[in-house]
Amino acid sequence: MQERDTATTLEAVQRREAQHFLPVARRLPVAIARGSGSRVWDVAGNELVDLTAGWGVNAIGHCHPALVEAISSQAGQLMQTTNFMYSLPQLDLIETLARITPPELTRTFLLSSGTEAMDGAIKLAHRATGRARYVSTEGSFHGRSLGALAVIGQAHHRAPYEALLKQGNAVVPFNDVDAARAAIDDETAAFIVEPVQGEGGVNPVALGYLAAVQEACREHGALLILDEIQTGIGRTGKMFALEHDDVVPDVLAIGKMLGGGVPIAGFLCTEAVAATVQAGDQGGTYAGNVLTCAAANAVIRVIEEDKLVERAASLGEALLTKLSTFAREHPDACEVARGRGLLCGLVLKDAELAGRVQSTAIERGVLVNVAGGNVLRFFPALNIPADDLWSSLDLLLELVAAG
Ligand SMILES: Cc1ncc(COP(=O)(O)O)c(C=O)c1O
Repeated sequence: MQERDTATTLEAVQRREAQHFLPVARRLPVAIARGSGSRVWDVAGNELVDLTAGWGVNAIGHCHPALVEAISSQAGQLMQTTNFMYSLPQLDLIETLARITPPELTRTFLLSSGTEAMDGAIKLAHRATGRARYVSTEGSFHGRSLGALAVIGQAHHRAPYEALLKQGNAVVPFNDVDAARAAIDDETAAFIVEPVQGEGGVNPVALGYLAAVQEACREHGALLILDEIQTGIGRTGKMFALEHDDVVPDVLAIGKMLGGGVPIAGFLCTEAVAATVQAGDQGGTYAGNVLTCAAANAVIRVIEEDKLVERAASLGEALLTKLSTFAREHPDACEVARGRGLLCGLVLKDAELAGRVQSTAIERGVLVNVAGGNVLRFFPALNIPADDLWSSLDLLLELVAAG
């Protein structure tokens, strides 16, 4: 057996990093060195089941051979040009996105992060309507740029930068149709909403909510922007969560799982919205980068070939059933379980318990995320082996029950 490098410990990594990392992230006590499928290994060689999938990104698991091959072969051919030139990987991807989204969404622009996609979507709605007021929902997360922060529904992200942010937007209670109707007016450029609030603690929209807010938008000439950065590309058991509600937004933002681990995001829009843009409205050095487009093409191909959307639906349903049963049987510790497909949350009564479960789970070989303070969020790879999911779930539920 190979001798372990004793300098490669979490403590050694923490000591080195303390010198130079800008301390803006509350790190979990784990340093991941490599991954394969739904397993990761820390720098000391300990194996963990990963229920976080790179924060809802590794759609087909860590280092899927088809993704590695697509990236390697593209890297050997061409890594970057600019969006001022045509490229085949981008062309393939925008054609595929047009095929897997509702037919009304014909036009795509690609960027590198969800935040940029939301900024672009906000700019697009301004172009299309000439208006500058946005309505979004409490608890929502849309990214951390100044544009995204100006519409975010989580006050703690917004508050430190209030002085820099555009004023006059409205944030309304989530899933409250009357509140949305009251806020959407003739000055509104767009209503912005996630079909399932991910960072906010896995809150799905109520049935009929999206259709009702879209109707209000149409009455006032405002756009509906759906932020499917976390829910898109199969996560909720449909290729896009909008299919659950049969709603076609004017603008659809996507990201995260699109690249399976490489930074690519973007938005799609209708022909009517697209007709309002001008050259130079949107851009970026890496917009439509060929390497990331090649990765996204491979991710979508694997998702389709391996029927991972259907798998997310069936495995997700089984997961939600187990979580709901547990929540009912443990009313002292749990409030409820909720979610769609493989985006599920177990809402605990106590944020401290959630934190304790998370850190003990890491020691016992499971990586799980806590969203919204007290929600154990499950958003694993769509192809996580069932045994890995159920064994890590057993451990987590044992820890919750133990208190
Ligand atoms: C719904 C939603 N929108 C936007 C973002 C921002 O995306 P990114 O972190 O890629 O900038 C996120 C990230 O978690 C998200 O979940």
